[in-house]
Amino acid sequence: MSIISQPSSPRSSVAYVAAPETPSAEAQNLASQQGWGEAVLLRRRGTALAWVAERQRPVMPDVDSLRQAWQAAQPMLLPDFAPAEVQAQSAHIRQSLTLVEAILDGAEVAAYFEQSPYVERLTPGFEMLAAFEDEGDPQEIETLEFDAVQGDEVIAENLWVKASWLSFEDDDASLRFRFSFGLVGYEDVAADPARQHYAAALTEALFPESAVISANSRLAVLLQTALGVAGLNYVERIVYFNAPNGGAQFHQDVERGHLGVVFAQAHGGTGWLTLPKQILMNEIQAFAAGPAGAAALAELLLQAKLRKEVLNIIGERESLAQTLDAGDHDALEALLNRCPAFTRQLVEHGHCYLLRPGDLILLPQHDAEHCAWHTVFCLDEFLGEALSFAVRAA
Ligand SMILES: [Fe+2]
Repeated sequence: MSIISQPSSPRSSVAYVAAPETPSAEAQNLASQQGWGEAVLLRRRGTALAWVAERQRPVMPDVDSLRQAWQAAQPMLLPDFAPAEVQAQSAHIRQSLTLVEAILDGAEVAAYFEQSPYVERLTPGFEMLAAFEDEGDPQEIETLEFDAVQGDEVIAENLWVKASWLSFEDDDASLRFRFSFGLVGYEDVAADPARQHYAAALTEALFPESAVISANSRLAVLLQTALGVAGLNYVERIVYFNAPNGGAQFHQDVERGHLGVVFAQAHGGTGWLTLPKQILMNEIQAFAAGPAGAAALAELLLQAKLRKEVLNIIGERESLAQTLDAGDHDALEALLNRCPAFTRQLVEHGHCYLLRPGDLILLPQHDAEHCAWHTVFCLDEFLGEALSFAVRAA
């Protein structure tokens, strides 16, 4: 097995504080003795993984390091980049949190969007065509279809917003609103920039706090310079509401026509483990080859047969890459998402970030081999909000 050296990232300022079973007061004491920030628990859907804390707030990277990092598929935190922009949207953010609380109480999304202030913002540019629930998709809450119109003329048809749960767990209320158009899974959305534009405009009408990203000229200039593009659009937008105990398992967001994703924290906090796929594979291989890895795998995977199988996959770089992409291997998925010792290694190697309102994180998504893999945790005892927009060259 070849192990490439593990350069620790200078970008992360997050330290490992203590094992997940450590009582909260003790974790806080350990962090404050070091002069670090508040200790937070990375925990999702009943599995606690680690107490972590910022040594200090990280600093804003310069444009040259952003450019290099983007090319290397390295995620980049833009700390305290847009607190004023988030503050300016606070009324809209409050409105969205009220909407989500109503949905959690059983309200229909369509009925909500037919009332003020949504109906005024949708008129006269959008016409709601239908609201339905896809019986074949147990995560779906409701899909609403719209046409973009100008007078009597339809200028972009079958735009939709889909509200979905992030998990099947009863104790995780996280949900998201995803905006796109056409037939899910059949349409080549990248081939239709006009409808992408109107699906993005629909996001602005329903969630005006989108402006934290979309109307941020400093961000546009920074991204254009770092990515080497003359202009860019924010498309295939998702508005996330992460609830306590919620978040997303390790995944990537590669899609044809997109360069990557920009994520902005609007309310509450999220914890992240994120790193380029090639470095993630180095980390997995190093972990499995080390003593901590053997013990952790024995604890995580009780059957020797399963352990042997996952070690065989990890040992072959090509099979590891393919199994990560397929996303259907229970043992590998357990190692990535539910193994405290592996989480500790990722934190100690500089792959952990803590986002607060006004923080942004950039996730380059070049192709399946060169992309930022990421996993997200809700850090609060309340519902948070974040924007996640794909970036494409204009
Ligand atoms: Fe993602």
